[in-house]
Amino acid sequence: MPGSTPEPGESGGATASVYVWELPVRIAHWLIVLSIGVLAATGLFMHAPFVAPPPGEATPSIMATVRFIHELVGVLFSISVGVRLYWAFAGNEYAHWRAIVPRSRRQWRGAGEMLRFYTFRRSKPPPSLGHNPLASLFYLIVYAGFAGQIVTGFLLFGWVLSTGPVAFLFGWVSLVPGGIQTVRLLHYLLTFAFLGFAIHHIYSSVLIDVEDECGGLPQGEAEDLFLPFEQRAKDRTGLGLGLAIARQSVETNGGVIRTRNLPGKGCVFTIDLPLSRRESSLGTGERTAAARGEPVPTSAS
Ligand code: HEM
Repeated sequence: MPGSTPEPGESGGATASVYVWELPVRIAHWLIVLSIGVLAATGLFMHAPFVAPPPGEATPSIMATVRFIHELVGVLFSISVGVRLYWAFAGNEYAHWRAIVPRSRRQWRGAGEMLRFYTFRRSKPPPSLGHNPLASLFYLIVYAGFAGQIVTGFLLFGWVLSTGPVAFLFGWVSLVPGGIQTVRLLHYLLTFAFLGFAIHHIYSSVLIDVEDECGGLPQGEAEDLFLPFEQRAKDRTGLGLGLAIARQSVETNGGVIRTRNLPGKGCVFTIDLPLSRRESSLGTGERTAAARGEPVPTSAS
């Protein structure tokens, strides 16, 4: 039975904090998220405006404003993608292109194992730090899409402006078969690819991490937090039943809740809910025992 042993970092095993995502990666990530949201909304508005300009207005100012926001955020998006690409050469081993471009048999095997997990043929994901090998492979495609969106965006920008440095650098729309309409169509279709990716990106994060700032726990006391009427905070106005109830409801749904101590900082609570029927059919007791690091009887899968 795969997954019967606790992964490193889970309660019950030895824990060690590893600094994975450096500040430039985090900033670039959230700027990309934010700009995709704004660009998709403003872009779809430009494609099919649902607000008409006030009657008699000489310049349709709503469209001009939306277009200006789109172009401004488009530049911000391009810079953020550039920063992330730069960090693929200057960053740590998790952000580095070597961790993203699969070059070894181990990386391909890891991607295969992750695919087995996503297709419900493996109950637990193979342990990995940073991006898992399958996600890395997928991000290559996503970044190719980003590059396509940036190039088509600047081609449109140059075409709209028709003068100045952008038009000078991206004034080769006529070289594209089908001209501006092909560029526009590609730019429009890629928008839906990103929206689809965003849905998958959020959906695949079934693991929910809730991090607090309790200052860390004394060694070996992480499990006691889940005992009923256990209160560690200065505020004792509650009954101390919150985490006990949380554990019970998660386990009722076939999941596992566990905690990881961050000494001197706080602790991380992780809720792991099963995706597949096969995984949820695993006894709650077994899943909890595995998460706590207690021995679990194994069987062939
Ligand atoms: C994730 C990134 C982006 C998304 C989702 C996006 C989305 C869209 C959409 C849906 C349209 C409407 C296409 C149509 O008319 O059918 C559009 C138009 C446009 N986009 Fe983007 N875009 C992105 C990035 C960029 C970038 C980086 C630039 C570069 C500055 C850019 C510049 C433009 C321009 C100039 C137009 C045409 C505006 C017009 O027709 O007046 N976009 N975009």
